[in-house]
Amino acid sequence: MSTVLRSLCGYFILLCLGLLLLLSPGQAYEELSDETLKLLPRPSHDFDIHDGAILSPLLQTRVPGTAGHDAVLEHLVSFIRTTLPKWDIELQNSTSKTPLSNGKDVPFVNVIATRDPPRASVGDVELLTLVAHYDSKLTPEGFIGAIDSAAPCAMIMHAMRSIDAALDKKWAAMEKGMGSTFDEEVGIQVLFLDGEEAFDHWTDEDSLYGARSLAETWDSQMNPAMSTFKTKLSSISLFVLLDLLGSKNPSIVSFYQTTHWAYQRLGSLERRLRSLNKFKAPSDPWFIDTSKDFRQIVPMGGIQDDHIPFLARGVEIVHVIDFAPFKGFPEVWHTMDDDGEHLDMDTVEDWSVLVTAFAAEWMELGDFLAQSESGKARRDEVFEADLDKKTEL
Ligand SMILES: *[C@@H]1O[C@H](CO)[C@@H](O)[C@H](O)[C@H]1NC(C)=O
Ligand SMILES: [Zn+2]
Repeated sequence: MSTVLRSLCGYFILLCLGLLLLLSPGQAYEELSDETLKLLPRPSHDFDIHDGAILSPLLQTRVPGTAGHDAVLEHLVSFIRTTLPKWDIELQNSTSKTPLSNGKDVPFVNVIATRDPPRASVGDVELLTLVAHYDSKLTPEGFIGAIDSAAPCAMIMHAMRSIDAALDKKWAAMEKGMGSTFDEEVGIQVLFLDGEEAFDHWTDEDSLYGARSLAETWDSQMNPAMSTFKTKLSSISLFVLLDLLGSKNPSIVSFYQTTHWAYQRLGSLERRLRSLNKFKAPSDPWFIDTSKDFRQIVPMGGIQDDHIPFLARGVEIVHVIDFAPFKGFPEVWHTMDDDGEHLDMDTVEDWSVLVTAFAAEWMELGDFLAQSESGKARRDEVFEADLDKKTEL
């Protein structure tokens, strides 16, 4: 080999290595196939606003410290225990005085549900984190908060149960050594946060009670020595917050340059689900910034929501909230009209499929979703049957 050729070869190898490094994060991310997207289940009768097993129990007033709140908390926990027994549940409790509590402490309970891959050490697992708040606003009296955020909670519940069996399949394959191509230390967690709403007027102290407590706790909770991630907080690979979803024709803005690529994944899945006729809602695109380059994403200071205490501590955020400059929030926002009857159910169901698709793609479940469809249907029936028994008591 001549020296010129050799140095050319060397050059070429360096170039390839460079390209590989540049591309590798993207290359680890494999799109779901059309076949898999077509298989993703839509919510069924369990999203009925009157007697659906998943959604209807969420559609009641659930102000922290009241009976309605405890009933919804119980609903979330029993759904996970019954339908998703392999998920770990943790309740993270805190108390706080509020401007209206007359000096008394109000309890706040965050629900944390986690599925870690087998045999990975705690502290080495990065967690895709899906988030919505389950409390409702004190005023106007009787406020239901269907888009805020009963429906987003239901969407996440649908995604959890829709990928659960595929996670089993993937991790079983991984254990048999067939999965060397997978990221072995990627898990998923769901946060149903409490106390998002202000009791009186929104201030830094009167809002985000649950999120502030959890972010602070996790920031100081150290993982075991030598872990990949120092704290529980740094184990969060991406914090995807859903809020104010369930009205027709939402528009979702991209807020953060560093996670614009993940926002674009959502936008791309939305487009593909539409083209496969998996969406029933009108065809105006929701993820309106998808074709923008990340440099075009203008930080807007952000909207006050549960992500803020996490953002402030360096967590990567995608904020999926129906909001656009000039348009603002959905019409029903913080009014008595934000109830089950005003949900656009096609849109709610489409969202549920999209959230499922995003989680499945992130967790690399493409090959395993097809195999697990029938098992899932059976488990749903069991949950509905269980619930029937309960209401009969
Ligand atoms: C947190 O609060 C819930 C509900 O009030 C309670 O059942 C649970 O035992 C508490 N957990 C801890 C760790 O204190
Ligand atoms: Zn609200």
